[in-house]
Amino acid sequence: MRIVVGISGASGAIIPIKLLENLKDVEKDVIISQNAVKIMKMETGYTVEKLRKSAERIYDNSQMDADIASGTVKFHALVIAPCSTSTLSKIACGIADNLITRVASVALKERRRIILVPRETPLSTVVLRNMYELSKMGAVILPPVPAFYLKPRSVDDIVSYTVGKILDFLGIEHNLYVPYSP
Ligand SMILES: Cc1cc2nc3c(=O)[nH]c(=O)nc-3n(C[C@H](O)[C@H](O)[C@H](O)COP(=O)(O)O)c2cc1C
Repeated sequence: MRIVVGISGASGAIIPIKLLENLKDVEKDVIISQNAVKIMKMETGYTVEKLRKSAERIYDNSQMDADIASGTVKFHALVIAPCSTSTLSKIACGIADNLITRVASVALKERRRIILVPRETPLSTVVLRNMYELSKMGAVILPPVPAFYLKPRSVDDIVSYTVGKILDFLGIEHNLYVPYSP
């Protein structure tokens, strides 16, 4: 299985870090935007060099000549986590001006699984409309919202829940959260 993980410039850099740790036995391509590099350093201390160890390939968002920019190159799914509202809105409108948005447009045209993890609050009408349009196109809109009923005790519990939900949509087994039991 080959999964592409796009990391754009929204808060929540710990999400792709934990996701990559839990994508075992999977070929991973990572694309990171300029703002995401800065936010990841600020929020987690992680650098691109450190991230490099957890993926087969890592691309700068300007590397439009990467093979995954072509629909002829197969990958199973694209996860953009966190997904900035800017990147989300570009994808909804068909703008493909960097590698993340180009790979998203490929995933949409090739009818591949696309999971977006937008982190913003509150949500403007324009972003809500773009999320709605993307959902109609088949994208999964998966905001990093805690399941309070599972009684998270730490930020790690909340992140694990979000990463677990992403893995659920990728069809990958995990034990990152314990399902609800009354
Ligand atoms: C510290 C910091 C935190 C940010 N957090 C968010 C966020 O949570 N959600 C969001 O949509 N944009 C956020 N932004 C704004 C985006 O980084 C900005 O719109 C950028 O152009 C997105 O580009 P990219 O999607 O190509 O990374 C943040 C910016 C900074 C500097």
